[in-house]
Amino acid sequence: MESGTDGAAGVWHSMAVTNLYIRNANAGDLDAVAAIARATGQGEEWTGADPAYVGHLLAHGRVVVAERQGAVTGFGATRRIGDGPGAVTMLCDLFVDPRAHGLGAGNAMLATLWQDAPRRMTFSSLHAHALPLYTRSGLDAWWPLLYLGGDVRALRLPGGWAVTETSPGEAAALELGWTGVDRSADHAAWAARPGGRAVLASRDGVVAAAAAVAGTGPEYGIAHLAADPGAGAGAARDAVVAVLASLDPPGGRARVCLPAPHVATRPLLAAGWHSEEMDVFMATDPGLLDPRRCVPSPALA
Ligand SMILES: CC(C)(COP(=O)(O)OP(=O)(O)OC[C@H]1O[C@@H](n2cnc3c(N)ncnc32)[C@H](O)[C@@H]1OP(=O)(O)O)[C@@H](O)C(=O)NCCC(=O)NCCS
Repeated sequence: MESGTDGAAGVWHSMAVTNLYIRNANAGDLDAVAAIARATGQGEEWTGADPAYVGHLLAHGRVVVAERQGAVTGFGATRRIGDGPGAVTMLCDLFVDPRAHGLGAGNAMLATLWQDAPRRMTFSSLHAHALPLYTRSGLDAWWPLLYLGGDVRALRLPGGWAVTETSPGEAAALELGWTGVDRSADHAAWAARPGGRAVLASRDGVVAAAAAVAGTGPEYGIAHLAADPGAGAGAARDAVVAVLASLDPPGGRARVCLPAPHVATRPLLAAGWHSEEMDVFMATDPGLLDPRRCVPSPALA
């Protein structure tokens, strides 16, 4: 089999036997990407079926498509988080048309996306091909990410806490101060989603967390939350509960994705919230995210 990478573009190809070709995606691929997303059960807002989401990745990340005999059969996307040697490359999406599963497209897209990216992480689905594929790429499976859904009216604002609206720029500036990582483009994108806004959670008048709230229907809730690492584990827990308790969605339903070991998981389960789905956090180093404190976006972390 003839295969390789053509240097500057970093495009992987393996033409002779499989007719498989990996190339960077562009705005002209939005319909094909959406069709693959829908064929793999991803039809919702802020998935590959949503041009706003894919547009954000085209502008601020990297998106590739796999072509076989001229037809797009899969797409994958990464987003670099942070700068310099500490930067982490998050795999946001990897989806292949079910008719082309197991034929090497997933593997080939990963080889392109993770080239020159030593620090890698993703939230793997429970699809049988996914976890072994990422394990072969040097990532290990560390903990489940629970998609927790429930009724916000079953939660109480913890004593001394208040939640106020802010600008995405202010939320990003606070996060930058706490973590050293500039997420301003992501905060702006989350705030532009349906239901999107940035909020601050304060304890006794001191800001302890900044969050992006967004989504539609049962997916409405916390999209991402960063807490002041100096504020302690109790604050990391109460900030999540406070933001959820402050929401007022139709029917009271909201969602947050939490690492199973997160300090807020038990209080939410105790309040009757349910785990509706799960992914598995996979990374080249377990220290890339702190499962007790982080509230990552499953797509963008
Ligand atoms: C996960 C997915 C992207 C993988 O793409 P793909 O093109 O099917 O994967 P590939 O053919 O490149 O590779 C699959 C690998 O898994 C291996 N594999 C399949 N089932 C396996 C199993 N149960 N245990 C171990 N390895 C397995 C195959 O042998 C192959 O490895 P190889 O290339 O070394 O032989 C694709 O199956 C998909 O879209 N699934 C549904 C959507 C999804 O869950 N996406 C993941 C989001 S995180």
